[in-house]
Amino acid sequence: MRIYDIIKKKRDGEELSTGEINYFVHDYTNGNIPDYQISALLMAIFLNKMNKRETLDLTKAMVNSGDTVDLSNIDGIKVDKHSTGGVGDTTTIVLGPMIAACGVPFVKMSGRGLGHTGGTLDKLESIKDFKVELSTEEFIQNSNKIKISLCSQTANITPADKKFYALRDVTATVENLSLIASSIMSKKLAIGSDAIILDVKVGSGAFMKNIDDAIVLAKEMVEIGIGYGRETIALVTNMDEPLGNAVGNALEIKEAIATLQGQGPEDLYELCLELGSRLLVLSKRVEDEKEGRTLLEEKVESGAAYEKLLELVKYQGGDVKFIKNPELLPSAKYILEVKSDSEGYVKSLNAEEVGKVALSLGAGRETMDSIIDLSAGLVLNKKIDDKVNIGDTLAYIHCNQLEKGKEAKEKIKELYVIGNKNTKAKKLVYGIVSKEGTELF
Ligand code: URA
Ligand code: CA
Repeated sequence: MRIYDIIKKKRDGEELSTGEINYFVHDYTNGNIPDYQISALLMAIFLNKMNKRETLDLTKAMVNSGDTVDLSNIDGIKVDKHSTGGVGDTTTIVLGPMIAACGVPFVKMSGRGLGHTGGTLDKLESIKDFKVELSTEEFIQNSNKIKISLCSQTANITPADKKFYALRDVTATVENLSLIASSIMSKKLAIGSDAIILDVKVGSGAFMKNIDDAIVLAKEMVEIGIGYGRETIALVTNMDEPLGNAVGNALEIKEAIATLQGQGPEDLYELCLELGSRLLVLSKRVEDEKEGRTLLEEKVESGAAYEKLLELVKYQGGDVKFIKNPELLPSAKYILEVKSDSEGYVKSLNAEEVGKVALSLGAGRETMDSIIDLSAGLVLNKKIDDKVNIGDTLAYIHCNQLEKGKEAKEKIKELYVIGNKNTKAKKLVYGIVSKEGTELF
């Protein structure tokens, strides 16, 4: 087999065989095919697309490129959740303890943030001594004892995806349905959870900018999951503005703590209830979503979900003092207030641009080697559809470099588009994709 012929075939819009897909994934991962040829192939895939069979083959080849993690030693029906990437999305750190408090094992291996989206591991590392690197044994032990474990992917899970993703990132070939679906699902499938819920984001802060594309992506991923024998469903949710109020690592941990204490932003809590109630159904813990929602609310109101977060932190070596007293978490030297000089309603607040402002303050990574400022970020005081008067605080900038903070302040002010009330009320969840089909809300 020659990589040249495979590139040419895809360039001419033809379908690649299973053997051809296995070949280029395997040989690129092993270093036998140079980046420039795979770059050309990725662009051909980007332009001419892959069909469902090719996408499933690509996913399988990526799963088989490295180790898989056997979770059969964890008791019960194990659930996992994945978001396609958003801004200020603290869901995992809230949802995980809520689900675990219901007695269902929530087992997740997460990634780090890159670009304008944040990563769960970085956020967790704002808690002093919290250990995100667990051995498979520790991961399994903790999952059995306290029903929750959140850690990094061990080095050899889907090495193909790491190489492909790094190359896609610099060749403008990220936003392709088959490439995104196979990248995400290969990582999920390499880890043996029984049920997976996908949070497919759509809007200004997401890869998918419109609902139709997001639904196609959701369907593709759900089919791959089911094809692999895993219970898989997807919710298509709003990422037109950041989720919750906080964007930034330590700031989002504070937000997660408040939410688990019943005092968090409404949209973040509501999304956790929407995802969580369905996860409880998938895990057979409850009969239907309504029962799931009631159970989750009970766990938050009784403090059980918050206690679960304390337990998680303790089991992963972190200091619970930082959860009990969130003011001890890393905090920035300066807090700048962004005030409105106009009156009306917030019409839009571009999430990707807000993410980039957080990045400019040091809250994210420009490259995989960047060092993150855990205390930096911003807290939104007004969100889409909120009423604003002249002089009202729109947001707070948390920074350690005053000059960067001042630039961020100007930029955030521009990003708040204030005008007449939007005619359509915003929606948090647009629809659900499952083996039964697609339901739009
Ligand atoms: N997240 C991933 O892991 N892969 C993609 O391709 C896009 C988002
Ligand atoms: Ca948030």
